[in-house]
Amino acid sequence: MSTQLDRLRALVKNLKSEVESDLQGIKKRTQVISITSGKGGVGKTNFTINFGLALVEMGKKVIILDADFGLANIDVVLGITPSYNLYHVLNEEKELAEIIIEGPEGIKIIPGGSGVFELAELKEWQLERFLLKLTSLEGEYDYLLIDTGAGLSRSVLNFSLAADEVLVITTPEPTALTDAYGLIKTLVMQKYQGKLKLIVNRALSPEEGRLTANKLKLVVDKFLKDCNLESMGWILDDKVVSQAVKKQEPFLLSFPYSKASTNIYSMAAEFTKQNFRLPQAVGLKNYFHKILTAFRS
Ligand SMILES: Nc1ncnc2c1ncn2[C@@H]1O[C@H](COP(=O)(O)OP(=O)(O)OP(=O)(O)O)[C@@H](O)[C@H]1O
Ligand SMILES: [Mg+2]
Repeated sequence: MSTQLDRLRALVKNLKSEVESDLQGIKKRTQVISITSGKGGVGKTNFTINFGLALVEMGKKVIILDADFGLANIDVVLGITPSYNLYHVLNEEKELAEIIIEGPEGIKIIPGGSGVFELAELKEWQLERFLLKLTSLEGEYDYLLIDTGAGLSRSVLNFSLAADEVLVITTPEPTALTDAYGLIKTLVMQKYQGKLKLIVNRALSPEEGRLTANKLKLVVDKFLKDCNLESMGWILDDKVVSQAVKKQEPFLLSFPYSKASTNIYSMAAEFTKQNFRLPQAVGLKNYFHKILTAFRS
């Protein structure tokens, strides 16, 4: 009798693990999108939050990694002060789930804090453990958006080099454009494999947006043969952006009918349309594995 029961138990256990592995098999991967710029202050953080919110409103699950150490961090723009960040996860003081904060509309944020620097210092076993924790988020989100710092530093570049897509933000200013070109060139020289897209922020008119994107694309096409830079469009210069920043609210929510919000909405709509049938995404575990390998080499 007991052997029969044991057999039954074993059968159920087998079935359970089969179901679990089946579920894991169909689990979709999270797409990793890095938002970066050559020059600082061009609008990365505002873009990341508002674009993320537009995606959430379109039914996508979005998590943002705040990997920026500038003054205008995501928490500042949202008026949230996180008590813990990635540093506390790496030091075993907190679980990943405990540091994730919920922003408006259910958007999630991982505060990077000084933990982003610590990533490079991980020992092998710590790395394994960290990757395991991240894997628990895999598939739970459609997109991981990473707000990187500006510039060409190793740590900023690493976040982009491993991503499925890199969105380069520039303004029409010549200095911002030159720095954007420098960044794109560096990514190409470092053999970045994913999609590269350009966003012109603070355009004074749609014409200026279009012309700026075309200008940069011409130079890239001429001098960087292996690079296919795609234009994602432009966001008009709009006073509601700084008004919203002062209120510590995303402009998409405070001023949904503004020019800037309209631009973000149409960009997000086009983005999700293009991403509908993408080949398999890098996935969170692979993404962080790649980053860590890059940090160490
Ligand atoms: N479309 C826009 N129209 C008007 N002003 C804008 C627009 N986008 C950004 N700004 C202004 O630029 C400021 C900087 O934006 P933001 O903090 O998003 O840039 P950043 O690239 O993240 O900066 P950093 O490199 O310091 O992290 C905002 O506070 C806002 O005043
Ligand atoms: Mg920023």
